[in-house]
Amino acid sequence: MTVSSAERSDRAAVLCGVGGVLPRRRVDNAELAARLDTDDAWIRTRTGIRSRHIAAPHEATSDLAVAAGGRALANSGMDRADAVVVATTTPDRTCPATAPLVAARLGLTGVAAFDVGAVCTGFVYALAAGAGLITSGVADRVLVIGADVYSRIVDPDDRQNAVVFGDGAGALVLRAGYADEPGALSAFDLGSDGAHEDMITVAAGGSRLPTDPSRTAHAERHFAMRGKEVFRHALTRMTESARTVLKRSGLTPDDVDRFVPHQANLRILRTVATDLGLPADRCARHVERAGNTGAASIPLALTDDHTHRSLRPGDRVLLTAFGGGLTWGSCLLTWPDLPPAAEPAHHEEESTP
Ligand code: UT7
Repeated sequence: MTVSSAERSDRAAVLCGVGGVLPRRRVDNAELAARLDTDDAWIRTRTGIRSRHIAAPHEATSDLAVAAGGRALANSGMDRADAVVVATTTPDRTCPATAPLVAARLGLTGVAAFDVGAVCTGFVYALAAGAGLITSGVADRVLVIGADVYSRIVDPDDRQNAVVFGDGAGALVLRAGYADEPGALSAFDLGSDGAHEDMITVAAGGSRLPTDPSRTAHAERHFAMRGKEVFRHALTRMTESARTVLKRSGLTPDDVDRFVPHQANLRILRTVATDLGLPADRCARHVERAGNTGAASIPLALTDDHTHRSLRPGDRVLLTAFGGGLTWGSCLLTWPDLPPAAEPAHHEEESTP
């Protein structure tokens, strides 16, 4: 790991590459409606989601993370990083962490590599950790990945969650630079409230309730969410966190060119944007095509916005996330001038019914 001394005092983490990947298999609402007690109208009205991508049986979180990380490194024009941080709720295994394997498969054996668990806020936490490694001088280049395969923990017969969640991975590359450069991450807000830890859970499989095939109930092995309550908390926490990070930077919502919130539900995104006073067209809406991809949703939405030129160099970008824990967080940055990135989706599959 490189330790370098900054010549200036305003050393900052600067975004220099993006990338994302969605699994090949695209599942639209009609396919879900054919086997679950649901329909396209309910899913679209309540969530805004039209389709999501589901990993193949052989694909694990690390496979998607490697693909996204490789794309982000290629986009940055660098083939090295000093550290790899992976945000995930669906690690390949309980032990060890997924990040060392991802680093090794990207040819980065020997670098610092660790996972961050903050559920759907994971990517913003991982970004803060990556930025901290850079501003403290511990690393000069950090690969930050958000990757989740929710289809492994969501019960496919649970109509509430099966329609909402999808699989995917997204990544950003950070390099050491200065606070006045385009791409600089300028402020963070992070928070949690563990008193509500039971609102989003996978009950079994940890030290509290180890999985015992003969005694663990079906529901305890799967992802559970108290949707309505989570919805209400998401609105409050995301709006407050966004306001906090703006205030910390001496900015107002008017100064935000692009709002890229965690892609949980289009109704949440629209309401938070409205509460902040942001026009709807400034808000990313990748959720429509990918569902809620957990820790992957913000870097995937950024990659998609960059690919479709909804993000322009110099744009002031606000990221805000909310998830299990409960956890929440925001980050402000200016968009740098990046080369075009590959589309996260595999378009050749999209016309297949
Ligand atoms: O990523 C981390 C953060 N996550 C979030 O922020 C997600 C927050 N929550 C949500 O996005 C929403 O709560 C959901 C999309 C999960 C659910 O939407 P909702 O508008 O809150 O629905 P609800 O739970 O109030 O359910 C309304 C009705 C219920 O029927 P009854 O009791 O009124 O007869 C549900 O059983 O809709 C029913 N329902 C469905 N109907 C058709 C629930 N899921 C479905 C479904 N299709 N897939």
